[in-house]
Amino acid sequence: MYDYNNFDEGFVRNRVSQFRAQVARRISGALTEDEFKPLRLMNGVYLQLHAYMLRVAIPYGSLNPHQMRQLAMIAERWDKGYGHWTTRQNIQYNWPRLADIPDMLEALADVGMHAIQTSGNTIRNVTADHFAGAAADEIEDPRPTAELLRQWSTDHPEFQFLPRKFKLAVTGSKADRAVTKAHDIGIRIVKNDAGEVGYQILVGGGLGRTPVVGQVLKDFLPREDLLPYVEAVVSVYNTLGRRDNKYKARIKITTMENGIDKIHDLVEARFAQLRPQFSGIDQAHFADISANFKAPEFKTASLDGYHAARDADPIFRSWSDTNVDDHRANGYGIVTISMKAHGATPGDADGNQMRMIADLAEQFGHGDIRISHEQNVVLPHVHRADLPAVFATLRAHGLATANAGLISDIIACPGMDYCALATARSIPVAQEIAERFDELKIEHDVGHLQIKISGCINACGHHHLGHIGILGLDRAGVENYQITLGGDAGPDTTIGKRAGPGFAYDQIVPAIERLVLAYLDLREDESETFIDAFRRLGEAPFKAALYPEEDKTHAA
Ligand code: HEM
Ligand code: SF4
Repeated sequence: MYDYNNFDEGFVRNRVSQFRAQVARRISGALTEDEFKPLRLMNGVYLQLHAYMLRVAIPYGSLNPHQMRQLAMIAERWDKGYGHWTTRQNIQYNWPRLADIPDMLEALADVGMHAIQTSGNTIRNVTADHFAGAAADEIEDPRPTAELLRQWSTDHPEFQFLPRKFKLAVTGSKADRAVTKAHDIGIRIVKNDAGEVGYQILVGGGLGRTPVVGQVLKDFLPREDLLPYVEAVVSVYNTLGRRDNKYKARIKITTMENGIDKIHDLVEARFAQLRPQFSGIDQAHFADISANFKAPEFKTASLDGYHAARDADPIFRSWSDTNVDDHRANGYGIVTISMKAHGATPGDADGNQMRMIADLAEQFGHGDIRISHEQNVVLPHVHRADLPAVFATLRAHGLATANAGLISDIIACPGMDYCALATARSIPVAQEIAERFDELKIEHDVGHLQIKISGCINACGHHHLGHIGILGLDRAGVENYQITLGGDAGPDTTIGKRAGPGFAYDQIVPAIERLVLAYLDLREDESETFIDAFRRLGEAPFKAALYPEEDKTHAA
């Protein structure tokens, strides 16, 4: 873990006291809401449907138990007792009183956290693989790179007023768990033929109303060129990006309008100017940062108890098969704690759950906790001998749902429950789908299937990248849900295609059910996942299941 040094601490404390004075001026009426808006946005404060909202950064999704307990305390003291994990590894508090927000920020500063640059047209929270430092397939831990980028981008004087928000994600594994191709800049740690570790740089990905898959801008960038190169990309975007139209302001549009070749040439030219300004201090600093992320001392223990528990308890076995991934260290596993109990709000955690997770991490997880972009919580380093105990505690707190990667492990944005921009509900749709498939008891038979739901075209719920995506719209005052098929958030990121006309609220769950039952009929065998079957067969049989009436008309 990276711990704040004196500079970080002083910087964050200063920001809190500055904002405290601004909030006081807003409350006294000295500032209007319009005048206050840019100030609050600098500090992660939104004005939502019912209340203000505070978005707190969790850099590359990493938390220690102490920080997790503080998030719990904040939720209980100043919110309604819970928080909401987001797809960009933040936590959102949906019900704070404006007057309390400076105290909340102070409490965050106490544990080395803040909300700076979690909103506004700046470089947002730098995200990374939630299995970082643990994954068996990792080339290198992406967290030191993400931390270097975080420090470089925080309060970067040139990049506080970009044409639009700007998102970076880093992965160190081929299995891209950071969705790098859906980011403004995606950074993939790679090895070249000479065995040197460097970066592949992708640019121009994004979701929203115009979803685009990022393109490769540089195949192999030496490590020491990272900051000047990324600075060159952002600086070209800052100059070239459109400020006349909010919907055309993202770098994905800049790249489409100018072409990747022109962007490439401009970046190279800017890079040549910037490179000499980087003296190498950043590399010395990178080495210091890396030292903070050294792996914990892994223990050795007998696996007999683990195997015995698997044999004795099918519920434990099912959970450990579904929610525990392979770890690079002998005898260890990576535990995904599903925040998607059937019928629960996807991604919500209350104070008790947060504290329980903090305790588990301390007792069994080398003090490390991650928040995944799928809105789950991960304990990256758990010895398998401890899994029965971890499972028992999770089960006692209702957090042992064995559904990681399955149909009820749904990403859903806040939709009409909170969001001022929503055109439809997302959370209840996710809840009803999860409950329906729990009733049918076919979730494990269906296997890996990602459903992602957004409550408007902004695509916060990543619906474009769902194997089945659901987009809630407003049609003349009535909620209408459009289905997209064939999206994928993996290394070969794919944007799903719209299946056809949308469905009314009470028709959406039956439509998903028809789709999934059709897949069960169509698949070659159990090893063929939904997305594989979709790729083999194309959309026609799936559309026929979705729109049976239409099919009859055609047949007549
Ligand atoms: C309730 C407060 C929220 C507001 C007001 C909000 C607003 C927005 C807006 C306006 C966009 C469109 C960006 C564009 O077109 O460039 C967007 C995109 C996005 N938001 Fe949210 N959002 C909220 C909550 C969330 C939550 C809870 C998540 C995670 C579940 C999230 C993650 C994202 C992501 C991943 C995008 C993708 C678009 C992209 O960057 O390419 N947002 N959001
Ligand atoms: S997708 Fe739309 S409704 Fe959902 S959180 Fe984003 S802006 Fe709000």
